[in-house]
Amino acid sequence: MSDDIDMKVTFAGIEFKNPVVTASGTFGFGREYAEYFDLSELGGVCTKGLTLKARLGNPPPRIAETPMGMLNSVGLQNPGVDAFIENELPFLKKYDTRVIANIAGETAEEYAEMAQRLSGAGVDIIEVNVSCPNVREGGMQFGVSARSVSDVTRAVKRRSGVPVMIKLSPNVTDIAEIARAAEGEGADAVSLINTLLGMRIDIKTRRPVLANNTGGLSGAAILPVALRMVWQARRAVKIPILGMGGVTSGADAVEMLLAGASLTGVGTASFTHPGAAIDIREGIAAYMRENGIGAVSDLTGSVEAY
Ligand SMILES: Cc1cc2nc3c(=O)[nH]c(=O)nc-3n(C[C@H](O)[C@H](O)[C@H](O)COP(=O)(O)O)c2cc1C
Repeated sequence: MSDDIDMKVTFAGIEFKNPVVTASGTFGFGREYAEYFDLSELGGVCTKGLTLKARLGNPPPRIAETPMGMLNSVGLQNPGVDAFIENELPFLKKYDTRVIANIAGETAEEYAEMAQRLSGAGVDIIEVNVSCPNVREGGMQFGVSARSVSDVTRAVKRRSGVPVMIKLSPNVTDIAEIARAAEGEGADAVSLINTLLGMRIDIKTRRPVLANNTGGLSGAAILPVALRMVWQARRAVKIPILGMGGVTSGADAVEMLLAGASLTGVGTASFTHPGAAIDIREGIAAYMRENGIGAVSDLTGSVEAY
């Protein structure tokens, strides 16, 4: 990257060196990917979803391929918030990149407790996952009602020492209403989309392909849905948006920015190509040079809608 273009983004008051961050649950805590590239090249790293206590996740099979995407029902497997702070955060802090901690709780109080511990430990942003489709308690049950999104946002905002971003579920009728509920309680940003609830069935055995029966659909197949929802959210709220869902190329990321995102997340694409996030950053830079765009922030929301 040369300095003829400005890829910096100020997001919820925090400066990101470029708009590309990894999406929660698709990048672990960064260790495996650090063997492929320097994590300091990223705008930010978002952690696997953290819970108050360690979780083993759901039984296998919990991953299945689908056309242009995948279904997962991993179910928030993680070592718990304290083990993360002790064993994983020091590794991530060695890099010159922003650290976003993704959290999931069973009650508003639990979310707030985690936010307090993590913000005290030095993460840059708390991403509040109210949208995991793969756990019975916590997760999506919060994200599909404006009222519970308000309750969780209020509780977390009270105890977090760093900006709070609410990760919205696409499994709702009106994304604008939910985004407004988060903004109304002081959320500093929203991120979207989490996975779309889906299902596949093995016609030989007549069993669902996932042991959880249903799972979350991600990858290239969901990009149009994600773009539509980011665009709708952009028109509903003033707080910045981290847009993700199916971003696989620099061109996809540019679409995400044009739709209204200030940052873009890369998830499933990293599974097929570990360096995807870096290629996507370079793709955005190439688009900017080709089109004479000096600052990446000028792209945000600049779709010329009919
Ligand atoms: C295997 C897997 C695990 C995920 N785990 C989490 C998680 O722990 N917390 C969360 O908020 N989102 C989680 N997600 C959702 C992603 O962060 C992202 O929102 C979604 O996959 C859409 O982006 P993509 O199409 O680029 O993957 C997970 C997605 C996948 C595929």
